[in-house]
Amino acid sequence: MKKRVIILGSTGSIGLSTLSVLEDLRPDFEVVGLAACKSGKVVAEQARYWSPKAVAIIDDQAAGDVQAAGQGNWDVFTGPQALTQLVDSVECDIVVAAVVGAAGLPAVFRAVELGRRVALANKEPMVVGGALLLPLAKKSGAEILPVDSEHSGVFQAMLAGRREEIRKVYLTASGGPFRTWSSEQMKMATLENALNHPTWKMGPKITIDSATLMNKALEIIEAHWLFGFEADQIGVLIHPESVIHALVEYADGSVIAQMGAPDMRTPIQYALTYPERRPCSAAQLDFATLSRLNFEPPDLGRFPAIRLAYEVLKQGGLAGAILNAANEAAVSLFRNGDIGFSEIVERTEQVLVRHEPMANPTLDDLLAADRWAREEVSRCMSC
Ligand SMILES: NC(=O)c1ccc[n+]([C@@H]2O[C@H](COP(=O)([O-])OP(=O)(O)OC[C@H]3O[C@@H](n4cnc5c(N)ncnc54)[C@H](OP(=O)(O)O)[C@@H]3O)[C@@H](O)[C@H]2O)c1
Repeated sequence: MKKRVIILGSTGSIGLSTLSVLEDLRPDFEVVGLAACKSGKVVAEQARYWSPKAVAIIDDQAAGDVQAAGQGNWDVFTGPQALTQLVDSVECDIVVAAVVGAAGLPAVFRAVELGRRVALANKEPMVVGGALLLPLAKKSGAEILPVDSEHSGVFQAMLAGRREEIRKVYLTASGGPFRTWSSEQMKMATLENALNHPTWKMGPKITIDSATLMNKALEIIEAHWLFGFEADQIGVLIHPESVIHALVEYADGSVIAQMGAPDMRTPIQYALTYPERRPCSAAQLDFATLSRLNFEPPDLGRFPAIRLAYEVLKQGGLAGAILNAANEAAVSLFRNGDIGFSEIVERTEQVLVRHEPMANPTLDDLLAADRWAREEVSRCMSC
């Protein structure tokens, strides 16, 4: 039986890497659904090549390109609910969640509700609604497998022992383009500086999150929900070479590290083929050229986002939704030239501090908190 795959966010960095992996996994895997926001021409081209059953495109105008290219050969869903409709209507085995931001949340929830395997790159829905997603997955039998390289690393290193034998996990971070910059220098950082990531090629939002280390903050929260670790069991190590993605420390002091070249095709493929491992055309590690591996603790003074992650885990409730939405809104303001680089995390923290805490929020509460936080970031502009 072929494995049927839907890719949400097929036109982005993870989406394109997923299609590259699926090229190698043919004919055992097939693409049955593709989805994007406004890149109509690109997704239409992908659909012509992969012949899916349906394509979802949020933007109405871009839908014309997809319809024209399909000539009735595939269904087209369009508008704000398009991704959820795609997940609902097309039978599949695996949903690759590769949309950027909380926008991917409804379709991820639906895929989990339907009991699909979800290959999760889109960490934001987990940061916002992990407390609801995990019980939902338990009920439906959905498997949520990490695509983030660090979480894939933890997942793989956890296979070396029993869950209760694990003392601590470490997520590594390259440190981003400003690893050696002073706070004063970072205040002056331009968009071009922030998009100049030293080791990974990714979409713009995650690249900026990697520069503020907010990406690592989101990953700490993601690790808490995905694996059930408490805040004090999740550490971060700056590791500029991005060769070790995660370390798992066991009760006896043994530390299992997961290593690999910085190429997302490896964790993407593992989430697709798990528990099998197959040959992969991703870059391979070359130990002859790896002269040294460096590690240092993160500087929480220059990179306060990490501190915010632990604050969010302590607060629970709406805090994850607030942190994520405020950050998304602040990153947009920075990309539009409305605020400076250092203000991204400053504004996010202000909004987090101002929010009204709530225990055990529903999905509607989380979505309302998301909307409030986005508006509050703009209101902060005039504070
Ligand atoms: N890139 C990486 O190496 C990497 C590594 C680990 C984790 N991740 C995570 O994976 C996710 C995707 O990252 P990325 O770097 O691939 O992002 P990206 O290159 O910006 O791609 C984003 C994708 O999402 C679609 N999209 C954007 N807004 C949408 C909306 N409102 N509704 C539906 N679709 C929307 C885009 O469609 P259009 O092209 O039509 O705009 C595109 O297909 C993020 O959560 C990120 O944190 C990425």
